[in-house]
Amino acid sequence: MNQSDATPRLLITAGPTYEPIDAVRFIGNRSSGKLGVAIAECAADAGWSVRLLLGPNAVLPRHQGVEIVRFETTLELESLLQTHLGQSDTLVMAAAVADYRVCRDQFDPETKLRRDEAGDGLTLSLVSTPDLLYGCSKRARADQLLVGFALEPSDRLIESARAKMMKKNIDLIVANPLETMDSDSIEATLLGNSDRGIVCQHSTPGVMTKDGFASWLIEQITPFAIQRMHR
Ligand code: CTP
Repeated sequence: MNQSDATPRLLITAGPTYEPIDAVRFIGNRSSGKLGVAIAECAADAGWSVRLLLGPNAVLPRHQGVEIVRFETTLELESLLQTHLGQSDTLVMAAAVADYRVCRDQFDPETKLRRDEAGDGLTLSLVSTPDLLYGCSKRARADQLLVGFALEPSDRLIESARAKMMKKNIDLIVANPLETMDSDSIEATLLGNSDRGIVCQHSTPGVMTKDGFASWLIEQITPFAIQRMHR
């Protein structure tokens, strides 16, 4: 249902994915989920209804208005996106999704792999995970707005982020330099996909805190989200 006379419904993903090797080990990444959680809280402050799909070991939002659904693996997140995308107006994909997971026939999620079974060395076979954002763009309605993130080397930040946005066929992408990974501050550029009717190239006014960036981003995307809902 389109809430054309109301504030947008935000579906946002945040945090890392954990891809199991066995019952106790996993392949993960260093995402804290802080940025996605800050965006969720700012949107809730601005009156959006917010559903946050939140990965393992990520910070929890303090805002009571944010509905939280947890995931661990990329495939769990894929299934949650399939369930919840339809009831949203804007998707912000801030999660650090794994590009590879351990091949299922190689691990038993119920037991712990023993050193004497593995021997001196262990080779893990990895299989690629689906591109979740691209999957969403194939299923999305014409009145939904899709926003992605791209962490790219600063020497080709804009061109790499733009290419990623076009490949995933999404509306907007936040380009931020690889150097800001693990940092509490962020300097970024929001790029729009003119092929999908969004003309935009706005940079943050210098380096911002993650909370400052979150409210800047919500301010930037709100007019596009509302415009889309009226399609
Ligand atoms: N993403 C996704 N599904 C994946 C990997 C990433 O939906 N399997 C999303 C991320 O949440 C982010 C955007 O795609 O919004 C870009 O993620 P990034 O890791 O920068 O790009 P990849 O598509 O993984 O490409 P590469 O790692 O080759 O740069």
